[in-house]
Amino acid sequence: MNLLELRLHQFRSYHQAAFHFDPGTIHILEGANAQGKTNVIEAISYVSNLRSFRTRNVRDLIEHSASGFSIDAICESRGRRENLRIHHEDGKKKLFRYGNPVPSFSQFVGTLNAVLFSPDDMMFFTGAPALRRRFLDTELVKLSSAYTEALRSCQKLLKERNALLKRRQFDQLLLDTYTDGLIAQQQTVIQQRQRFVMHLNRKLKKLYPVFSKGEETLEIQYKTFADPEKDTVRQMRTIYEKNLDRDRRFGATGDGIHKDDLVFLLDGYPMPAVSSQGQKRSALLALKLALCAIIKEKTGQHPVFLLDDVFSELDPDRRQKLIDLLPEDMQVFITAAEPVQADFKGRQVCVHHIRKKSKGKDGQHEPQ
Ligand SMILES: Nc1ncnc2c1ncn2[C@@H]1O[C@H](COP(=O)(O)OP(=O)(O)OP(=O)(O)O)[C@@H](O)[C@H]1O
Ligand SMILES: [Mg+2]
Repeated sequence: MNLLELRLHQFRSYHQAAFHFDPGTIHILEGANAQGKTNVIEAISYVSNLRSFRTRNVRDLIEHSASGFSIDAICESRGRRENLRIHHEDGKKKLFRYGNPVPSFSQFVGTLNAVLFSPDDMMFFTGAPALRRRFLDTELVKLSSAYTEALRSCQKLLKERNALLKRRQFDQLLLDTYTDGLIAQQQTVIQQRQRFVMHLNRKLKKLYPVFSKGEETLEIQYKTFADPEKDTVRQMRTIYEKNLDRDRRFGATGDGIHKDDLVFLLDGYPMPAVSSQGQKRSALLALKLALCAIIKEKTGQHPVFLLDDVFSELDPDRRQKLIDLLPEDMQVFITAAEPVQADFKGRQVCVHHIRKKSKGKDGQHEPQ
């Protein structure tokens, strides 16, 4: 998969800008601080996930003093072109493919499959479990429609079950229906999360030692409320029966996939407790490379790999290793404040000089 063209209108620091990207190439977005490099990465990632990795507030994405933004992207996948457009105006997001409205987010998300490494992700290991669940969901939603459906159903059933639990008098039969539905859908989610984590672990076994000089191991443990190796349905049923009184007292379902987490073990010990900044960065890079490899295996297409500010804290040796690990025909975007010193081993590299244009008469900011 490749991103061939990106047009930004009133997006962050870009009033109007157009970028052209050759397929299968390593694109280096080079420029001093605060010139708009990450803004480009953010826009690409937004087309992929319809969510910013830097803010929850869409307002932040709109150019100051403007009322909306648009992003146009031309992608290429299996020789087919996709023409995508996101238009945000008056707090509403509208999606288009070839100029035709796309009715639902799920039909748009993942059309451009991008994997992102961002220094802000360093919270990934130490932050709340919701961050790691979001990682699972973001990726699995793009890989499996069965997962997307099961996850949606779980969210709906959980809401309904919680609403019922809050009532003083409730219909036991209706509760059983919600609980049974939840159990069935959660089984699909648990199985897929478990399989995905096992797949990641197989990749990490090879990838992480490259960064740790073969001295450490990295493994992910999937934590859920029922043991995925045993009869999950029976376990879930027992848990819900046992905890019904508590759930009624709290007016909420205390057990479920909405509490799942991933634990990253470095040489068998949980990451946050023992790891250095460099180890976390290496682990995150290995994780994202593992993800790229899985996407390629499952879809037959490389994702677009976005690496924001990846080199700033990697020593030259690890930097080179990262470049060596990038699959040959994968399109990659790397932001860097300084010229990248590395051996690209004959790969096609294109440097884009990014400089914020001072506001001229027409108020335009454009890439150089
Ligand atoms: N909504 C917005 N409207 C206008 N300008 C904005 C908006 N949001 C951010 N900016 C501007 O974008 C610039 C930051 O862009 P970006 O984060 O892409 O920088 P960068 O080139 O990645 O810098 P660094 O090397 O420090 O990471 C800043 O000048 C900031 O003021
Ligand atoms: Mg930046």
